Amino acid sequence: MNYKEALQHPIFKIISKSVEELQVEAYVIGGFVRDFILKRGNAKDIDVVAIGSGIDLAKQVAKNLPTKPKVQVFKTYGTAMLRYNDIEIEFVGARKESYSENSRNPVVENGSLQDDQNRRDFTINALALSLNKTTFGNLLDPFNGVNDLEAKTIKTPLNPDITYSDDPLRMLRAIRFATQLNFTIEETSLHAITKNASRIKIITKERIVVELNKILESNKPSIGFLLLEQTGLLQLILPELTALKGIDEIEGQRHKDNFYHTLEVVDNISKHTNNLWLRWAALLHDIGKAPTKKFHKKIGWTFHGHEFEGSKMVFHLFKRLKMPLNDKMKFVQKMVLMSSRPIVLAQDIVTDSAVRRLVFDAGDYVDDLMTLCEADITTKNPKKFKKYHNNFKIVREKIIEVEERDHVRNFQPPISGEEIMKTFNLKPSREIGVIKEYIKEAILEGDIPNEYKPAYKLMIEKGKKLGLKVKE
Ligand code: CTP
Repeated sequence: MNYKEALQHPIFKIISKSVEELQVEAYVIGGFVRDFILKRGNAKDIDVVAIGSGIDLAKQVAKNLPTKPKVQVFKTYGTAMLRYNDIEIEFVGARKESYSENSRNPVVENGSLQDDQNRRDFTINALALSLNKTTFGNLLDPFNGVNDLEAKTIKTPLNPDITYSDDPLRMLRAIRFATQLNFTIEETSLHAITKNASRIKIITKERIVVELNKILESNKPSIGFLLLEQTGLLQLILPELTALKGIDEIEGQRHKDNFYHTLEVVDNISKHTNNLWLRWAALLHDIGKAPTKKFHKKIGWTFHGHEFEGSKMVFHLFKRLKMPLNDKMKFVQKMVLMSSRPIVLAQDIVTDSAVRRLVFDAGDYVDDLMTLCEADITTKNPKKFKKYHNNFKIVREKIIEVEERDHVRNFQPPISGEEIMKTFNLKPSREIGVIKEYIKEAILEGDIPNEYKPAYKLMIEKGKKLGLKVKE
């Protein structure tokens, strides 16, 4: 492979020139080199390691760039960052470091390129390309990272116990890369992760969530969740999911393993949407099943109310992981709460009124809900599989039909409370709510269309029944 090709962007010549001027050495390292070899598209994040001061080099590069960008300096870490067009370049001085037991913050000393490569997370992330004049474009690969890229292996440069214990976030990064790249984590590494799993507690929730999101955004997220489970990390991060594991059997009655079912649903939905929050909804749609599970002699296993329980758990889980408690969380809650509605619908004859109610309750999220529910079909019985999917097709068609006719998606009552008050000469009172609800129900049931005239007629009828008099 011609590695010079990776360095075609004019920025590399400018860095190289700056390196000359300062009489230091510098290398592109990490993800940029890895992704070039993997042909993962044009990386916009470039990491440069300087044998010397990364901050000084960043300043020199900024001076040599036509745009004279601002250099952001992070003194405590000895790093500096600048932007050039749409590229972000981070400069760091080569380091030799060891981490303290209780935090990720390293004790830093200056080091050689080899020292710096030693302290990186994986062999595939320790690849460096020279930016120095005489060796420009040469690859420095002391741990055979290129071989590991070919063999699709995640491996640490040093003893994995040291690498993971130095920075426990790397345990999640290993699993995340394995998922994104469809790589295998080397056996000794996997052992070390299992052994060090409890050290994940020193990592901030925000950083954990970044990795979880990246796993969820992969083509096949189950790879990551299975590894998280296998290493014991999942129990520490998302115990709500490990609680779904296992199949109980009483008197010959069994329920499905809801953990593996969930992973199937997540993989299914990932084929149909890139919406991260819908993927989260798929991951969490059954979490209410663990606390609501009961066995009844006559009917077998039940999970009554698991959707409601699950949507409450979503809040606690988001809060614990310091995830946003905004409309994203509300969306996930709504999906979990409504996750059984379409399947109940699809098991039977699909009526207009049931579809109208579904659209009314799900509002703008009805399509996302349908996507979730289609992904939820994991039955291995081909007849049932076909039947449910066919019924969902009918539901989707009816959603469009009903919506065109009745506009209940973002329901606006055809008769306002004000009009009811005026008609019957009422002050704000309970009756207004009763009449409004009556009209809404009639529309959802399909007794009247969602139009002013029939709604007005119904208001008069209901008002009279309530003993109200029309104002003359
Ligand atoms: N790195 C590390 N340990 C970490 C984080 C990062 O050793 N906990 C090193 C790796 O060499 C990595 C580089 O820093 O390649 C840059 O890290 P980052 O930008 O987080 O990741 P990338 O490898 O660039 O990959 P991605 O952009 O997919 O996160």
